[in-house]
Amino acid sequence: MLQKLNEVKTEFDSLIDSVSAMPDMAQFKADYFGKKGKLNALMGGMRDLSVEDKKSFGAKANEVKQDMLSAIDKRSQVIELEAINSKLEKNRQDISWTEKITDRGQQAAGLHPLTKVTRELEDIFLSMGFDILDGPHIENEYYNFEALNIPESHPARDMQDTFWFKDKKHLLRTHTSNLQIHGMEVKKPPFKFVGSGKVFRCETLDASHEAAFHQLEGMMVGHDIAVPHMIHFLRTLLSEIFKSELKVRLRPGFFPFVEPGFELDYECLLCGGKGCSVCKQVGWVEALGCGMVHPSVLRSGGIDPNEFNGFAFGLGIDRLTMMRYHIDDVRHLHSGNLQFSEQFRAY
Ligand code: PHE
Repeated sequence: MLQKLNEVKTEFDSLIDSVSAMPDMAQFKADYFGKKGKLNALMGGMRDLSVEDKKSFGAKANEVKQDMLSAIDKRSQVIELEAINSKLEKNRQDISWTEKITDRGQQAAGLHPLTKVTRELEDIFLSMGFDILDGPHIENEYYNFEALNIPESHPARDMQDTFWFKDKKHLLRTHTSNLQIHGMEVKKPPFKFVGSGKVFRCETLDASHEAAFHQLEGMMVGHDIAVPHMIHFLRTLLSEIFKSELKVRLRPGFFPFVEPGFELDYECLLCGGKGCSVCKQVGWVEALGCGMVHPSVLRSGGIDPNEFNGFAFGLGIDRLTMMRYHIDDVRHLHSGNLQFSEQFRAY
């Protein structure tokens, strides 16, 4: 029996290294250790041995069995390692090109100062519970003029030099006040919203005038809203933007869509009120037009002026940005000059 055991072991030793996959290894193991395996068959013969022989053969058989099991473990580990290595080899990626990366002179980008200021404004309004709306640049007369209480013959139509389309019906919006009408069409009072974007006027260009510039429109409609609410609100807004208490002044202003209407100025931050090219040497900068929404505008929006009222304002973003970043010519903002824009990356 010992001889047979040795034969089984020798055969096992000669075969194990040729097993090269885990399923084969399971089969190989069963060949020796399974119910009908070679080792079990041998053990069956122990019955006929004397007690003494049983003991010594049993001990020997156990030793061989442990050897075989640890050989199977070792071989299994090798098989698994080989499988992993061949997988890795198959998926090998050539990344030698990374050694050839060179500086292509590209630089980190930053937001345009106008974008930064607009986003800051929107954040302030969002924190005050305003919604943010968007509206079209190309308008018809209704949204830009008529619904805003500027009928066709009204001289106010000439106040703003309009870019008309050839069909004489469409135009580039001259202000963001078109958003008041669009807003009222989708909102039920009480509401408060702002919206901003480009507006267009056929202007003579100089350090403070561009044909395309940016406004932010705001509208708040509810019950019993009065002028002091509006003033308090706008002063808070400007202080938030400039992070300091500003000197402001209110002048009567005429806009057909508000009554009463005002223009709000603040002391020029570039020259401290002494006068410079941005404030046209007067020391004050026009920040915004504002006023209590005209009843006929509310009516255009399907709102009963006997039940609701409110205020609206239109703020020039370009000049605000110039003040904020001490830019002395509005034309820089649209110049597309990277040397200009790069200065604001870190702000
Ligand atoms: N739309 C006016 C302008 O462009 C500003 C304004 C808005 C005035 C809302 C009053 C109320 O100058």
